[in-house]
Amino acid sequence: MTRRQNSGPVRLLSVVGARPNFMKLAPLAAELAHHAEFHHTLVHTGQHYDEQLSSSFFSQLGLPRPNVNLEVGSGSHAAQTAEVMKRIEPVIERYKPDAVIVVGDVNSTLAAALVAAKMNIAVAHVEAGLRSFDSTMPEEINRRVTDAVSDFLFVTERSGVDNLLREGASPKKIFLVGNVMIDCLLRHRKLASQSSLLADLGVRAKGASLRDYGVLTLHRPANVDDAKVLRGILEAVGEVAHDFPVFFPVHPRTRLNLERFRLSRLTSEVLDRPATGIVLLEPMGYLDFLALNDSARIVLTDSGGIQEETTVLGVPCLTLRNNTERPATIVRGTNHLVGVEPRRIVSAARSALAGPRRIKRRPPLWDGHAAKRIVAVLRRLLVD
Ligand code: UD1
Repeated sequence: MTRRQNSGPVRLLSVVGARPNFMKLAPLAAELAHHAEFHHTLVHTGQHYDEQLSSSFFSQLGLPRPNVNLEVGSGSHAAQTAEVMKRIEPVIERYKPDAVIVVGDVNSTLAAALVAAKMNIAVAHVEAGLRSFDSTMPEEINRRVTDAVSDFLFVTERSGVDNLLREGASPKKIFLVGNVMIDCLLRHRKLASQSSLLADLGVRAKGASLRDYGVLTLHRPANVDDAKVLRGILEAVGEVAHDFPVFFPVHPRTRLNLERFRLSRLTSEVLDRPATGIVLLEPMGYLDFLALNDSARIVLTDSGGIQEETTVLGVPCLTLRNNTERPATIVRGTNHLVGVEPRRIVSAARSALAGPRRIKRRPPLWDGHAAKRIVAVLRRLLVD
């Protein structure tokens, strides 16, 4: 399975591109830095380029500066994927890695995996095997194709192993190692608790107990590119936000559509008095967002990663989608799949708010040591 091209340290080239990649690679990069038998090169494709979607994560997570930034920027799926492929090929040619590491399911993940596989370089996919079985999601296509061309499949939860086996992947390639994103969360939780964000938002005042609040995130095209769906979600969350504020850090795509569909009126940019309603915030850095989620009464989201993070924090989470590629968060966590039908969102929120504030259950191996396990496997396969 190994196709080493070099003598000396094993050369690994890892690729990140969009916000959810950074917290997955950070623990792995930190672990690799402890092993002299690996030489690690980091490539940023530039799929995300805003300070708040990209650079702030590098500084907060202690990620090394990328050796190369491909600066591909935004574009249609085809254009963005093609641009990463064109620009990464000469980089791989130059660095001659023994293996390329890709994480998650964004367009950059797929593009880098395809190029490396065609150059006959081993591909390691971190977060392999997750399936929503919904091929209208671009990420589902990215996941399937990336896994199909990968040599090492590092999996976060048991369902991923079952999916890969069902698709015919060799068991020898599959490694159930746990969740690097949770490594990152557990490592930064204490630091995040020092954030001043909750005081700035007026929910934590000196000498007073924490006030209830919710958190909302939305960025999936299916939810935010359709005016009717987006309006329905905001009206439902508006009802949930009748008694306490719901903070909504807005992704650039969503911000654009709120204005385009004239839906900003369902939200406000500042806290109303009394403090209720949906409050728009800019996208925030990793530590502030972790602090916000860690103390929330409820989180409503269409993100994949936040389903996992709320599970480990024990915070009730409503997922505004009809499917999830992360079933462990439902079976072993705090996540409820509620879809986007407004009445269902409101009633699911009421049930969650009537239930416990914190639920302590988490999937096996989501313990902060996934990166260590991945590096141990890479050593065994590439070094020993
Ligand atoms: C991408 C990922 C998605 C991930 C999400 C997290 C794919 C297919 N999707 O979606 O899986 O959950 O990142 O955010 O890879 N934009 C900016 N600034 C930026 C980047 C983007 O303003 O730094 C705007 C652009 O108008 C762009 C739009 O956001 O067209 C969408 O960006 P894009 O990278 O295409 O996908 P995301 O929706 O961010």
